[in-house]
Amino acid sequence: MIYADYNGSAPLCTSVKDYLFKRLEKGPFANPNAIHYLGSKTLMGMENARAVCAKVLGADFDQVIFNSGATEGISTVFHSILKNEVNKKIIIISGIEHSAIINTANYYASERGFEVKVLPVNGDGVVDLEMLKVWIGQNKKNIAMISIMAANNETGVIQPYKEINSLCVDNGIPFLCDTTQFIGKTPFNFKESNFDYAVCSGHKLGALTGTGILLVKNPEGLCPLIIGGGQEKGHRGGTQNYLGNETLAVALNTLNEGFVKLEELSKKRNEFESKMKAAFPEVVILGENAPRLATTTYISYPGIHGQAVQIELESQDIFVTTSSACSDNMPVTSKVLKAMGVADDVGRGVVRISLCMNSPLEYYDQLTVALTSAYAKLTKVKSF
Ligand SMILES: Cc1ncc(COP(=O)(O)O)c(C=O)c1O
Repeated sequence: MIYADYNGSAPLCTSVKDYLFKRLEKGPFANPNAIHYLGSKTLMGMENARAVCAKVLGADFDQVIFNSGATEGISTVFHSILKNEVNKKIIIISGIEHSAIINTANYYASERGFEVKVLPVNGDGVVDLEMLKVWIGQNKKNIAMISIMAANNETGVIQPYKEINSLCVDNGIPFLCDTTQFIGKTPFNFKESNFDYAVCSGHKLGALTGTGILLVKNPEGLCPLIIGGGQEKGHRGGTQNYLGNETLAVALNTLNEGFVKLEELSKKRNEFESKMKAAFPEVVILGENAPRLATTTYISYPGIHGQAVQIELESQDIFVTTSSACSDNMPVTSKVLKAMGVADDVGRGVVRISLCMNSPLEYYDQLTVALTSAYAKLTKVKSF
């Protein structure tokens, strides 16, 4: 079996499983905010996990706020920045953001009168930095926040986040970088990034689902979304998911050790893509000319439904996804691909192959064989 949907969700990582088995045997299980012995011990375990996460992510201990995942982190940041904002009315996002960003920005537009400006991207799915400079120049005093991702969930394309961050810092604009797909897939250091805010989800990293981290440059200025009983130093109410938070530390640590394999993996991924293009010259690799996560391939055979390819691969025990949302059972080109100006026959043909750093390199050999046979079969019955 090849699981190739890590950008969707990662299976529990082996070190996390091993940790959990032992941890569940041993305990302690108590409210980490209780002052009795077991509470203090539980708290110590969780704070130890925070220290590990902070170290791996290059953040200060206090900059790590445990929560339920990226969506909550994103909602918290929008809330914190925009709650009391009355003068600045513009929110800038890009055309390839995840719905967790798009829908939140649109909510603030419809409910609170903000204006959402959507930065275009080029054919490889990279945001238009020059246009961002122009927009900032024209509207500087009126921009409440900018939210642009570090790496795209569909294409794996890495955005010019350093340049975007510098523009934000130079112009005093709060910047949220959606690092959900970036953290754990490539080395990341929060302090070096100098981002105001970054987010991640445990289930993308091999930790337990329902866990996550919000990284905040100046946590004392954060306005909590969930007030509750003052947990997480008042930044996020609710009794902490201490077991889950511990799994975040284990998973991040394991991934951190795996970064040495990145170069080899990226070479193997590129070889796989070249072989597919050589065998089928019609094949398109989305975002091919841009810097990409080493673990992602977004591949299309125009005219063949991505879903048909997915089913073919699944019959060989290989699990990939298509990007396309289904409307009335008609696969449609995803919003991300539309923003990239991708033609419909390409957009409807894509499958996303996303592995992790610790995936065996041989997977790409098996994928080459399986995808070659799927395309060879399906080109005989071209779908559209
Ligand atoms: C780029 C990006 N941002 C945000 C999210 C939302 O993450 P979650 O559903 O874990 O909160 C995802 C999930 O796929 C994502 O890929």
